[in-house]
Amino acid sequence: MIDPGTAEMHSIESKVVIVTGSGRGVGRGIAVHLAKGGARVVVAEWKPELMESTVAELDALGSDVLGVGCNIMEQSEIEAMVAATVDRFGRVDGLVNNAQTFRPMASMADITEEDLDVFYRSGVKGTLWAMQAVRPHMAKQGWGRIVNFASSMGITGGRDFGAYNASKEAIRALTRTAAREWAEEGIVVNCIAPAAADHHGAAGKASEGYRQFVENCPMHRQGDPETDIGPLAWFLCSDACRYLTGHTFMADGGAFMWA
Ligand SMILES: NC(=O)c1ccc[n+]([C@@H]2O[C@H](COP(=O)([O-])OP(=O)(O)OC[C@H]3O[C@@H](n4cnc5c(N)ncnc54)[C@H](O)[C@@H]3O)[C@@H](O)[C@H]2O)c1
Repeated sequence: MIDPGTAEMHSIESKVVIVTGSGRGVGRGIAVHLAKGGARVVVAEWKPELMESTVAELDALGSDVLGVGCNIMEQSEIEAMVAATVDRFGRVDGLVNNAQTFRPMASMADITEEDLDVFYRSGVKGTLWAMQAVRPHMAKQGWGRIVNFASSMGITGGRDFGAYNASKEAIRALTRTAAREWAEEGIVVNCIAPAAADHHGAAGKASEGYRQFVENCPMHRQGDPETDIGPLAWFLCSDACRYLTGHTFMADGGAFMWA
């Protein structure tokens, strides 16, 4: 028999959690997992058809879900999305800053200003503006959970991903500073570095990078967004994550084991 206090600490029942980029991929998997746990999820996504499909999926689960069209490259759209969340639910408990706009791979010599702008606007600035937008609500509650997205590519300096890597490492820097500055307000801020490229379909699975990852990963597989990455996001959004902040968690089947 689980002590009710312990069960409550691990629960995300009724928590209001925004998941950006939850129309597909890792964000969709997290949204579904949190909804199954009873969270009230905000699907913040810039592609209407993707947003609608995740909202329909969560609706079918009987979940209290809100879909909001939001391009995280625009600060005003992020602020409007958080305002819509608070209008509907009266609070915001969690923010999963998952969305990232991608650009084609480019070697260091070939990175363009447009590449940098897209990665920085969607990754670094989008993450920061969203953190700033939810913070007053979380600080007022004295409780909040923020989950940002990093990548093992950034940590290891993966080739041909220079602009992406720089944006992902900047997000880790923002995570640590926010964790330090906002801890006294009850806000916990962490990062997930996932490995869950299975959803990129046959083309993704045919890539050399995918083959190498699966071969070298101790578990010999990519993660499932819902059942492998979702549970970590759940923990990071729960009260059980109360003494861990500013960290990056590698959700990658043991592929990268940092001290
Ligand atoms: N999949 C992996 O193996 C992997 C590895 C390392 C890091 N990551 C990180 O995990 C996160 C999710 O990755 P993914 O593989 O699921 O990506 P994905 O491309 O499959 O999905 C991204 C989602 O975000 C949405 N999106 C993109 N730009 C947006 C914008 N400007 N505004 C709003 N929504 C936008 C897309 O429409 C899509 O629904 C990203 O931050 C990524 O960098 C993923």
